[in-house]
Amino acid sequence: MWAYYRIPSRTISENNAEEIEGYKRKLVQMLWELKSYYEIDLQLLPEDMRLNERFKQLEKDFSSETGKIGKRYDERAMYVLGQELGEVTRYGFTVGVKLHNTAYLKQDTLKDSFKTALDSVTMQALSYLGVSVADTKKAFEPYEASEKEVFDGLSVLKGECLTDKQLYRNTTEPFRHGIAGSELPANLQTTNTTIDPVAHTGFLRLTNEYGESCIALMPITNTEVNMTYAEMFRIAQKMPFPVEFKVKVLQMKPSSAVRKTQFTARRFKETDKDMYANEDSDSIILQGKPLLNDLRNDIENKKTPFYKWLGVFVVSGKDKTECQNRCNVLKSYMANYHVELTRPLADQVNLFYTLLNGNSIQFERYWLQYTKDSGIAELLFGLTSNLGSNIGFYLGRVTHGTAPDTSTAIQSSRDIVLYHPMIANEGIVGAMTDSPHVLVSGETGKGKSFLAKLLMFYMTFLDVQILMTDPKNENHAWFEEAVKDPEIQKDYPYFIDLMKTFHYVTLDPNDKNNYGVLDPLTFLNGAQAKDTAVALIEQVYNLKGKDDVKREILEDLDMLIEKKQKGEKVGLMDLIDMLKDSNVKNIAEAGGLVGQLVKNSILQLAFSDGTSRGLNIDYKHTILSIQGLDLPEAGTKFEEMNDSDRKALAVMIPLAKFCQYFGQRDRKQKTSIIFDEAWTLTATRGGKRLVKELRRAGRSYNNQLIMITQSVKDAQSEDDRGNFGACFAFDERSEREDILKFMDLPVTKENKELLADMKKGQCLFRDFYGRVDALSVDCVFPEWIRAFKTVDKSNSAKAEREFV
Ligand SMILES: Nc1ncnc2c1ncn2[C@@H]1O[C@H](COP(=O)(O)OP(=O)(O)O)[C@@H](O)[C@H]1O
Ligand SMILES: [Mg+2]
Repeated sequence: MWAYYRIPSRTISENNAEEIEGYKRKLVQMLWELKSYYEIDLQLLPEDMRLNERFKQLEKDFSSETGKIGKRYDERAMYVLGQELGEVTRYGFTVGVKLHNTAYLKQDTLKDSFKTALDSVTMQALSYLGVSVADTKKAFEPYEASEKEVFDGLSVLKGECLTDKQLYRNTTEPFRHGIAGSELPANLQTTNTTIDPVAHTGFLRLTNEYGESCIALMPITNTEVNMTYAEMFRIAQKMPFPVEFKVKVLQMKPSSAVRKTQFTARRFKETDKDMYANEDSDSIILQGKPLLNDLRNDIENKKTPFYKWLGVFVVSGKDKTECQNRCNVLKSYMANYHVELTRPLADQVNLFYTLLNGNSIQFERYWLQYTKDSGIAELLFGLTSNLGSNIGFYLGRVTHGTAPDTSTAIQSSRDIVLYHPMIANEGIVGAMTDSPHVLVSGETGKGKSFLAKLLMFYMTFLDVQILMTDPKNENHAWFEEAVKDPEIQKDYPYFIDLMKTFHYVTLDPNDKNNYGVLDPLTFLNGAQAKDTAVALIEQVYNLKGKDDVKREILEDLDMLIEKKQKGEKVGLMDLIDMLKDSNVKNIAEAGGLVGQLVKNSILQLAFSDGTSRGLNIDYKHTILSIQGLDLPEAGTKFEEMNDSDRKALAVMIPLAKFCQYFGQRDRKQKTSIIFDEAWTLTATRGGKRLVKELRRAGRSYNNQLIMITQSVKDAQSEDDRGNFGACFAFDERSEREDILKFMDLPVTKENKELLADMKKGQCLFRDFYGRVDALSVDCVFPEWIRAFKTVDKSNSAKAEREFV
C-alpha cells in the first residue's frame, strides 16, 4: 500500500546558491523523518496549466468598457503560447511512500490519536480507476496510522494529500503521456490505452481514443561520484519540451549498505593497483576512496540512511522522430552535468511498469545508483521556477542561463510568467507584501518603458483608471503611428478600438491655454499647496542664506491660500507680483528674478493667475506629456545642472503632486499612476519625499504607483526600503551590487555576471510572493510592439547587422 502526496513547488532562483543549500538541508531532513520507510517514489510531472481557466478567472475583473477587447487578447496569447510550446505546462511534484501495515498494533488507541487523511477522497479515486470500493475502506485501516506518520514527515515540504482528481490524474498519467487532449477525461480508463513496444524498437507507442504518441524511457546510467549539482529535477525543467522525471528510491538496510561500500572499496583497491601499473590517474578513483570511507563512517556510526535508486526520464513526442530528437537533446544536455542517460532498446516495457505508482524497484538489477541522504537531496526535488502570479496576464518567461538574445531565451524556456498588476493589495495567501506598487529600474535602453507600457495596455482591460506620465513625450506619436498602419487596421480592428480609449494631454508651455495647469495653488489645498510651491521655487531659485525672502514667500503663500479658500482665483503669478511689490529691495529683486525665470519657459505651466481650467482627468486612460521638456542626462547632480535642467525638473514636482491628486480623488475608484523617468523626481531637492508621498496613497485609496526609474536607490528613502510589491530590475552597470541586494540575491561574481549578461528586455523580477528570478519580457502582439517602439533604428544600426 502506497500513499501519494503533492509537494507544493517552491521557487528559489538558481542564482541564489545560499537558499538552495538551505533547501537541500530540508530535503535531507525529510528523508530522516521518513527513515523508517523503505520505498519512496519522487515524481516530476508536466501538468497542463489550463491557461483557459486561468484567463477566465482573470476576465472576471475586466471592465465593461474594454473587457471584450481583453478577451480577444487572452485568446491570442493562448494561441501563440500553444503554437510555441505545444502544451502549456507547469511542473508539479508528487511523492509516494510505501506504508507500513500496522494491523498488529493496537488499532483502537492509535485511531484516537491520529486523524486520518485517507478517507472518502481515496475511495472516489479508486472508483475512477475501476477498482471496486466495497471493503476497501476496511483494507485501508491497517495503514492509517502509518499514513499519518508519513504525512507528518512530509510537513517539512508542506506535502498535501492528493485530491481524488489529482490522484486519478497522477496514476493514469503514464498512459496519456504526450497524447494531446487527453488531459483529464473522467471516463478514460488506463486499459483504454494500448502500449505497443514493437512499432519502433526502443520506444513505446501509446494509443488511445484521443490519439497516439511515442514515448521513450531513459534511465540514468552514471553520475558524478559525489552527486554535487546533479540537480536533475531542476535540469529536467529546463528542457524546451515537457519531460517527466521519476526517481524510485529504496532505502538499504544498514548491513547491506555497508556491504555495498566494502564491495566497492575492494573494487577500488584492485583498480588502484592497476592504476599504478598503468600510470593511469583516474580521478574518479582518487576522489572515490576518501568518499567511500566517509560514507561507511556515516552509515555505521551516524546511522545515515543509504539508498539505491532508479532515476528515469520519460520523453514523449507526437511520433518517433520527434521523440528521438528530444531524447538526443536531453541526453546531451544531461551530459553537461556529467549525468549519463541511456535509452535501452529491449527494456522499455519493463521500465514503464516499474515506474507506475506502487511498483517497487526491489528486484531491479540495472541502472541502479547508490547514494546517501545528501545525494538524494542534490537532485533538488520540489524546486521550480514559478514566478509572478497564478492568475494574470502573460508577461514573459523565466530566463535560464544566458542566450545570445532575448527571443532565443524566450524560445528556450517553458516557464511562462503570468502577472496580475492589480491584486497585490487584495490579501493574497502566502504573499510577502500587500503593497500594490511596482518598481521598474535600470539603465536607458534596457526595456523599462516597454515593460511599463505592456503592463499598462494589459491594465486597460481592467476596471482601473490610468494616468501615465510621459516626460520624454515618446509615446503619443508611436501609438498614433501604430493606429494608422493599414495592416494593423485590417488585422486588429479591436486594437484600434482600444486605442480610442486613450486620451492624450500634451502640455505645451507656449500655449496660453496651458499656463498654470500644473500650478499647485490651483489643484492643491493648504499645506500641500504651500510645500509644493516652495519646493518648486527652491528648485530654480536658491533660497539658502536668504531667510528674509523665504519668510516673505511663506507668508505670501499663506495669504494666497487663505484667499483661495474664500473662493478667489489665485496662482503662483500672484506670488511673484507680491514679491515684486515688496519694499524690501532683496525681496523685490528675488520676485523679479523668479518672474524672469518663468517668462517664456516651461515654468509657465506651473505659474498662473489662477484662472486655468486645469486638466480633465476623467478619462479612463490618460497619457500626460510635456512638450519641449529638455531633461538633463539621468544621474546629473543637482550642482551640475544649468538653469534649463533645473526648470525641467522643477516642473516634475507639481506633476508628481498632480498624479497624487489624481490617485486620491476617489477612494473607491481603482487608479494607477505610471510615472516614467521618475529619477527626475528624486533628482530634485526633497524628491525622495515626493515619491514617498506618491506611494502613500496606495492601499487605502486603491491606488497604485508604477515607478520607472534609473536606479534602485530611487525607490528607497531614508526610513524605508521602498515598499514596492513587485520589482523589475534591469541592469545598471554602475550599481550591480545594489541591485542584487535590493532584489535579495547574494552579491556574487556569478550574479553580477548574470546582470551584465542581461539583454534588452531581460530583468530580475521579484514578485509579491517574494520570489526572485530572471525574466525575459515577451510581448506576443505585434501591433503592441509596434506601438511600444521608442527609437527608429538608424541606417547604420540596420547596416551593422547586414554586414556581419
Ligand atoms: N521585451 C522587449 N521586446 C521587444 N522589444 C523591446 C523589449 N524591450 C525593449 N524593446 C525595445 O527596445 C527599445 C528600448 O526600450 P525602452 O523600453 O524604450 O527602454 P528604456 O525605457 O529602458 O530606456 C524600444 O524600441 C523597445 O521597443
Ligand atoms: Mg524609457
